[in-house]
Amino acid sequence: MSKSVTILGLESSCDDTAAAILHRDGMGQTAILSSVVKGQASLHADFGGVVPEIAARAHAEILDLCVEEALAEAETSIAQIDAIAVTSGPGLIGGVVSGVMCAKGLSAATGAPLYGINHLAGHALTPRLTDGVPYPYLLLLVSGGHCQFLLVRSADQFQRLGGTIDDAPGEAFDKVARLLGLPQPGGPAVEKAAKLGNHMRFNLPRPLLDRTGCDMSFSGLKTAVLRTRDRIIEEHGGLPIQLRADLCAGFQAAVVDVLAEKTRRAFSDYLQAEPSAPTLCVAGGVAANQAIRNALETVSREFGAEFTAPPLALCTDNAAMIAYAALEQMPLRPADDFSLSARPRWPLDKSSPAMLGGGKKGAKA
Ligand code: KG4
Ligand code: ZN
Repeated sequence: MSKSVTILGLESSCDDTAAAILHRDGMGQTAILSSVVKGQASLHADFGGVVPEIAARAHAEILDLCVEEALAEAETSIAQIDAIAVTSGPGLIGGVVSGVMCAKGLSAATGAPLYGINHLAGHALTPRLTDGVPYPYLLLLVSGGHCQFLLVRSADQFQRLGGTIDDAPGEAFDKVARLLGLPQPGGPAVEKAAKLGNHMRFNLPRPLLDRTGCDMSFSGLKTAVLRTRDRIIEEHGGLPIQLRADLCAGFQAAVVDVLAEKTRRAFSDYLQAEPSAPTLCVAGGVAANQAIRNALETVSREFGAEFTAPPLALCTDNAAMIAYAALEQMPLRPADDFSLSARPRWPLDKSSPAMLGGGKKGAKA
């Protein structure tokens, strides 16, 4: 039996400020005592994307309030915290610095050891927190800032099998929503409109399907939506609601087809390395999309594999996943000291980093 641990996690790498308290008992069972997430959507609404300076200031202003709320909800005092975990990258540098400074201050004041955590490791390990999925497994991380296939072997061994070479799918959903006059975040708005549309009406591209491997691209698809929209406006003198719905349905169907086919390929590659553990997991905000979830579930059925999609609140950015990643990494590495610094770029797999740079939501490491 090992020592029980109560850990505080902090997350501030993009546009959500979050704090969470987790408890691991002597038998290794982990419980989420609280998970507070405060989004900043209203602060960025007028700018058409996340403004890094506004995000950083907002994180700095409310991180301590999130910590207080998380402690109160968990009925825990700061003196009972045994360790502090914080996202130290990748992400928007100002936000990450805010979190790291807050965590260092709390660690200095309480003496609790400090763990700098890779945000992507938080997402990648979530299926273990929510469903106890054993290692190894294949994870598709698909959000507003990230899109990659990861072979997760342990809490500190991740192999990147492929991913986007430009936009992340959530970013494409958000841009398409903006092009079509739908509200942000674009994913839910486009999905809702798509339900009323005919996905066959417009023929949109499925980028990189003709290329082997499981790398993806979504930027050309977004441009195709722009061109189609302009053509409709020219022909109709505006964007009729039904045609807008048809365009949303066509766009979503293209994303679904690309994700499904690339997942098939990634899963085949994964099974060659790990034939005895056929498990597919998905994480990230785009995993909220029912058409995408259904397609991934179908792919996993084709392979006779287990499929795990964590509940939405733990798919999107949160601090419980950061605290959990620290719990898993504790036996494998020492705590960080106060020289811990923010890393805007920090690929999980150093031998196969992401191909292209950061988007509106920060680095796609
Ligand atoms: O994981 P997340 O909260 O933040 C990061 O990007 O890290 O993901 C947010 C992204 C946004 O781009 C949003 O439009 C997208 O997830 N999203 C969706 C849906 N719900 C959220 N995309 C497609 N369909 C949805 N239902
Ligand atoms: Zn994220």
